[in-house]
Amino acid sequence: MLKVLKEANINNKIVLLRLDLNVPISQNKIVSNFRIIKSIPTIEHLIKNNNKIVILSHLGRPKEGEVDEKYSLKPVSLYLSEKIKKNIIFEKNWIDGVDFKDSNIIMCENVRFQNGEKLNSSELSRKISLLGDLFVFDAFGVSHRKESSAYGLIDLMDSYAGQLLENEINNALMMISNPVNPLTTIISGAKISTKITLISKLLNKSSHLILGGGILNTFLFALGHNIGTSLFESDYVDEAKKIIKHKDFKKLIIPIDVVCSNNSSFDNPQTKPISMVQSDDKILDIGAKSIDKYVDIIKKSSTVFWNGPLGYVEQDPYDTGTVKIAKAIAISNCYSMVGGGDTIPIIEKLSLIDNFSYLSTGGGALLKFIEGKELPILKKLGAYT
Ligand code: 3PG
Ligand code: MG
Repeated sequence: MLKVLKEANINNKIVLLRLDLNVPISQNKIVSNFRIIKSIPTIEHLIKNNNKIVILSHLGRPKEGEVDEKYSLKPVSLYLSEKIKKNIIFEKNWIDGVDFKDSNIIMCENVRFQNGEKLNSSELSRKISLLGDLFVFDAFGVSHRKESSAYGLIDLMDSYAGQLLENEINNALMMISNPVNPLTTIISGAKISTKITLISKLLNKSSHLILGGGILNTFLFALGHNIGTSLFESDYVDEAKKIIKHKDFKKLIIPIDVVCSNNSSFDNPQTKPISMVQSDDKILDIGAKSIDKYVDIIKKSSTVFWNGPLGYVEQDPYDTGTVKIAKAIAISNCYSMVGGGDTIPIIEKLSLIDNFSYLSTGGGALLKFIEGKELPILKKLGAYT
């Protein structure tokens, strides 16, 4: 049984709280506040019970042992402080001890600046454990990692799952064990290598599996289509061919038409049937006919699981397919679950956050969970027993 904070009677303690505050930041401004907002209930619960909190988190993938301001959590600490209307002390140098002064909350600078974090150094975990009385893990997004400030602390301290984590597990379990059929899954992203097992697992469960991005291109290549200069993974063409031979392959949906460009500034979008892609074309989005087909599939679905944008959303108009699919899911009556760092900011930008059934803070962690892999941290917290 998952050991949950909610059922423990924790008062007047110093709690080490591991969050996933790895959010996109541009010019010191938070671009997506989703993970921050989702972390607030556990913080408020701890404060209500007279605890003091030391918040630990990573941000990005900085070089260990160096401080790089680009990866500082300072903007996150200011943002969170404003949101919860409480003073938060931001500690740049925290590893040898912290000082709460007149506050109840401390946020430590990026744990990935510390030597040993990524390799789960036990010495680093030991030092971190000295900063508090017990440990609350609420960083679902790193449940699949073995790092000192998360996995490494669990054996050293009395440890609990926070509210965000509990919620994530309950929703992901529902998606794995009890999705109401028909289930449509949309899997997109640059690399097929990280999602190949997931795709074969989901192909069994789903009525339709829509592919996008570099993953789709690898499949198109494996099917013998000309994909021009589009991104794909040549090392995984054989894996894609194996899936093509899968008995459920017909459930795999590929586009009728695509939007391409054949110049480096991508300023000449051209929609063409999939069979008309030329050797100098780059596929950057799905075309109008494909959008109609996908929208129709979504309308007939009872459950939709979506991971990854369907086109090059960074540049207009190649976000069209993704935006229309997001809107179609938002207005449908299906149970909709979305995961992955790239998809949620788009939904936020369209102000559709409240129109989805469940948005997960997890990226890789969620996909591994859905794939049926045991996530090391969840295992330690009792989620599988
Ligand atoms: C994520 O965004 O996927 C999580 O914050 C984990 O980050 P990581 O993939 O760099 O470990
Ligand atoms: Mg990740």
